[in-house]
Amino acid sequence: MEKQKIQVAIDGPASAGKSTVAKLVAKNFGYIYCDTGAMYRSVTLKAIQNHLSLSDESTIVAMLKQTKISFTPGNPVQHVFVDDKEVTEDIRQPNITNSVSTIASLAGVRTELVNRQREIANQNSIVMDGRDIGTAVLPNAPVKIFLIASVSERAERRYKENIAKGIETPLAQLKKEIEVRDHKDSTRKVSPLTKAKDAIEVDTTSMTIEQVVNEITKIINQRIK
Ligand code: DC
Repeated sequence: MEKQKIQVAIDGPASAGKSTVAKLVAKNFGYIYCDTGAMYRSVTLKAIQNHLSLSDESTIVAMLKQTKISFTPGNPVQHVFVDDKEVTEDIRQPNITNSVSTIASLAGVRTELVNRQREIANQNSIVMDGRDIGTAVLPNAPVKIFLIASVSERAERRYKENIAKGIETPLAQLKKEIEVRDHKDSTRKVSPLTKAKDAIEVDTTSMTIEQVVNEITKIINQRIK
């Protein structure tokens, strides 16, 4: 008999720690991990490289249909490829971070990426993180987590990540950028960031990564037994 595939959906706002935690949880359970934000970032990068207008939906969707986005496991981060060229670092640059909400608000882009995300989730047990996994991509996932943290805490986390990458951005600016992205992600017309009714909220503000991973592990074990 085919082994039952488990889907774990982890959603939440920017810099709530989703990808770090999701990757560790996936490793502990032997599931694959999919960072859907990286897919929206990849589309943004290619559109910018091709000098496309980011709000020109039909052109961007046509480009996306001809674009391969793939992942390979890696530590500390998963490797991301666009048309087989590695873009792992390029998609994390501030210009992409600040433009990606525009691309993520295009309905045609979402339809295409959601289809691809469902195909990935059909292949194996998976931990998938994003903004609409529990509400739109995998609405029947048996485990749904909604991770939140205060804006100040998230800005500080991003500040430290940036410093480690040699990017110096004032903390106040990062706070503002997170607020702007939260607002755009939660108010867009298509699949806005919302907590699924059956999602369990975990506030990570004063928690360590290990504590968050333990909490989610507990929730998964309760739900899948
Ligand atoms: O998680 P992240 O910061 O890498 O996400 C990048 C952007 O993509 C963010 O502005 C929200 C958007 N996004 C989305 O709309 N839906 C998803 N499932 C994942 C990300």
